[in-house]
Amino acid sequence: MKGLVLAGGTATRLFPLTIVTNKHLLPIYDRPMIYYPLDTLAGMGIREVMVIVGGKSVGDIVELLGDGRHFGLDLTYRYQRGALGIAHAIGLARDFIGDDAFCCVLGDNILRGEPLQGIAEEFENGGYGAGTMLYKVPDPERFGVAEFGPDGSVIGFEEKPKVPKSDLIPIGVYFLRPDAFDVIEGLAPSGRGEFEITDVLNHYIPSGKLYAPVYEGHWTDAGTVPSLLRAAEMAGADHEAGTLPPPVARPVDG
Ligand code: DAU
Repeated sequence: MKGLVLAGGTATRLFPLTIVTNKHLLPIYDRPMIYYPLDTLAGMGIREVMVIVGGKSVGDIVELLGDGRHFGLDLTYRYQRGALGIAHAIGLARDFIGDDAFCCVLGDNILRGEPLQGIAEEFENGGYGAGTMLYKVPDPERFGVAEFGPDGSVIGFEEKPKVPKSDLIPIGVYFLRPDAFDVIEGLAPSGRGEFEITDVLNHYIPSGKLYAPVYEGHWTDAGTVPSLLRAAEMAGADHEAGTLPPPVARPVDG
């Protein structure tokens, strides 16, 4: 499996913190935000990763991460012009992904606890077309929201609904295959002008090919001031418990 980290976007919800720098460089406890999604992918045994960059200070992201060898990763970069949406950013990785299955992690998603290797394997071997993980939140209207049928299976995702149909959201971890690029090419922008990942996930529901287990670890995004603080507290708790390994630093000549 290959990996993808999305680190574009404009991060207006974090102004003024992100007026002159990239959201994904902001500190979460003792390391830059983007370390966490890279670690999520590395924890699945993924080595080849493309980082989609955009917005402010893109060069600083490359300077921070280099070729990724100090993380045990092999990093490639691609630039996204404008914040046209998560599905649009994924679409930029078509040539890099080639014929492989892949996992995309949003650059502001922090996962701690449950390792994902088993979930990645279940997706790859289970004949699924797309996968994500569900997580219960108190403010679902801020996210994509799952709707469930009478048998308890997901029948649709709605992006930022005014009236959420459940409190379970798809977190920013997506398991996909190369056919997703054709689905993305067929999408129209949503009312807010973005190519939505929820529309990609919805494509796989009628055929029963969506994998959407509940995530049993701790999760938060870090795209608003309260969630940025929550992310730091989550990482800090892990540090206190001795389960947050020290952050790696790129060697000066690396
Ligand atoms: O965090 C989970 C949620 O993430 C999901 O529940 C939603 O379905 C999904 O749409 C997304 O919602 P957000 O509103 O939180 O996404 P946001 O615009 O904050 O973007 C999340 C990350 O994706 C951000 O760190 C940068 C990257 N991104 C985003 C956009 C819009 C890009 O790389 N390019 C983009 O064009």
